[in-house]
Amino acid sequence: MNAGDLFDNPQSRAAMRHAELCRQIAAHDVAYHVNDAPDISDAAYDALRREVEEIEVQYPDLITPDSPTQRVGYSTKSTPFQKVVHSRPMLSLGNAFDDQDVRDFYGRVAKFLGVQPDDIVVMAEPKIDGLSCALRYEDGILVRAATRGDGVEGEDITANVLQIPDIPRQLKGTPPKVLEVRGEVYMRRADFQDLNMRQQAAGDKIFANPRNAAAGSLRQLDSRITALRPLRFFAYAVGDVSGAIATSQSGLRQALADFGFTISMPAQLCETVADTLAYYTEVMQNRPDLPFEVDGVVYKVNDMAWQDRLGSVGRAPRWAMAHKFPAEQAVTILRDIQIQVGRTGALTPVAILEPIAVGGVVVARATLHNEDEIARKDIRIGDHVMIERAGDVIPKITAVIMEKREPSSIPFVFPDHCPVCQSYAPRVEDEVVRRCAGGLVCAAQALERLRHFVSRDAFDIVGLGEKSLEEFWDRGLIRTPADIFTLQEQDKGSLTPLRSWPGWGPQSAQKLFASIDDRRNIALDRFIYALGIRQVGQVTAKRLAAYYRSYTAWSDAMIAGDDALQSIQDIGPAVAADITAFFAEPNNVALLTDLAGHLTIADHVMVARGDSPLSGKTIVFTGTLTLITRDEAKARAEKCGANVTGSVSRKTDYVVVGADAGSKRAKAIEFGVTLLSEEDFRDMSQSGTL
Ligand code: IVH
Repeated sequence: MNAGDLFDNPQSRAAMRHAELCRQIAAHDVAYHVNDAPDISDAAYDALRREVEEIEVQYPDLITPDSPTQRVGYSTKSTPFQKVVHSRPMLSLGNAFDDQDVRDFYGRVAKFLGVQPDDIVVMAEPKIDGLSCALRYEDGILVRAATRGDGVEGEDITANVLQIPDIPRQLKGTPPKVLEVRGEVYMRRADFQDLNMRQQAAGDKIFANPRNAAAGSLRQLDSRITALRPLRFFAYAVGDVSGAIATSQSGLRQALADFGFTISMPAQLCETVADTLAYYTEVMQNRPDLPFEVDGVVYKVNDMAWQDRLGSVGRAPRWAMAHKFPAEQAVTILRDIQIQVGRTGALTPVAILEPIAVGGVVVARATLHNEDEIARKDIRIGDHVMIERAGDVIPKITAVIMEKREPSSIPFVFPDHCPVCQSYAPRVEDEVVRRCAGGLVCAAQALERLRHFVSRDAFDIVGLGEKSLEEFWDRGLIRTPADIFTLQEQDKGSLTPLRSWPGWGPQSAQKLFASIDDRRNIALDRFIYALGIRQVGQVTAKRLAAYYRSYTAWSDAMIAGDDALQSIQDIGPAVAADITAFFAEPNNVALLTDLAGHLTIADHVMVARGDSPLSGKTIVFTGTLTLITRDEAKARAEKCGANVTGSVSRKTDYVVVGADAGSKRAKAIEFGVTLLSEEDFRDMSQSGTL
């Protein structure tokens, strides 16, 4: 036999694989249990363990006391805590991953006891993801608390446990002389998030999940730190007891509750396998709504005499089993980053993934939130990424597996143009999103914008409701606002004229054309509002119309990038930036020109209020007003039908000069604008029928 044969032999190959798996699992165990920082997903870890189990079934000789199948948890040898030897080993649980595994569990129990599977009543409880802990009470007083450790020896965490409000220092009722209660220390999801926020603010360690946060908080050498962490405890079993307290698992839960413990909910006594599986499905469906993280459910044979007879094998009791939920995390490859354009023009990156099962469903897309998120995590096309799915929430990418990155990968460059219409997509100051500025020309937004265009406060085209607009859109007849005004012409030459469409007739078609014609004359402010420029609502549209008076004056000023924009009342830098962005996009200017060609846009007429001399005038206030406040003066001027602006131009009618007026006063003189004193203004604003 040569060396090659030695390794080709299936048994030696299995032995090598077994040794490798044991080494890997041991390393992951240290990361998880000792450092409270997992370096692999739960699902991947479970898969390694299962592989070991499968090898050991085939080659039982490979089972050693060190095998992960024989060990529970982690060795306490290298941790700084006092050691505690458990009175009875703290076991772990065997795992079921599907319905068949659960039926097999019933089958094994029935066979062992010599009963029928139907005879077995099971107590089902949620499996909360925390860390197990044993609490020893003597004469009803808490005397010692320990972590599970390797199941035989744990760490003394008594001082820390005393900081957990859920854990009674003294039991209620009449407990046995010695009572060891076992249960799970955990953290609620909301508390975990708050904690991480505080940690981040303080520049401290961020925890990967509630379990690690709970473990890291409980295994503190300084119990004052534990006291600051929102830990909770629920009881699910007993260890050493000096007298029986129950004959069933359900009775045990009741007894624990009576002693003052919180027990895990929602729990259910299941009479049949079908009940058990229904419970599993129910908890899984409610999973996102539960305040704590559950990674599965636990089934326990309810009869405690049967539990005793069943005993345990290896690291797990024969009478209990964990039924795990499908992993909510998985690693897959990011194939592409696509940019979607929403109805409001927001550019949203979407991850296109190599499809993979996560939490029981196949995931092929995930959200990437926004440009900054991609940059912050340095997510690149081709990366191996960790994806997470919680309940019905859209899956998200939580991390990049940097070790697996291809050396040739390049950082992702977020586009600054809309992928749908190629318009410029600027990022407005203070916003994380980029938005396509081509609102009315962009197919992704156009329908939404058209709806706005024809709506009551805009063009108010009767007969062009949501439904019919969509129909015209689908048939390609209306794609831009200008198309509305050529609809009748288009219809004339059509082989399928509107009057022949289902739901339409000669009369309704004629009515629609008439109501469109009705709107060829439009007021400037309505026209501006109808364009749906971001942040330009009715009030802003009115202000713009009042300031510029005519369509040509307005559009010329906008195309030229008028600095005066920001001096108009209620128009701040953000609104001004949105208007500027609209006009900076050539597509929009072309569309406006096209549209305006079909319309008569009426100049803005100031609504005359009575016969006030200020009505219809443009006024600028400057200097310090002494008779009334600037705000009141403005309000009064507007009430008189005046248009108040912030900067002086040739179009300004009056400049009201307060004390210490400076450059605006000088400008007014330069332009020959009439100056008013505060008193003049007071008199003028009081005359007329207000
Ligand atoms: S009973 C001998 N019940 O899951 C039976 N364990 O994977 C001991 N766990 O070590 C466990 N919720 O830390 C039981 N309702 C529950 C549980 C539960 C969570 C933990 C516990 C255990 C681990 C096994």
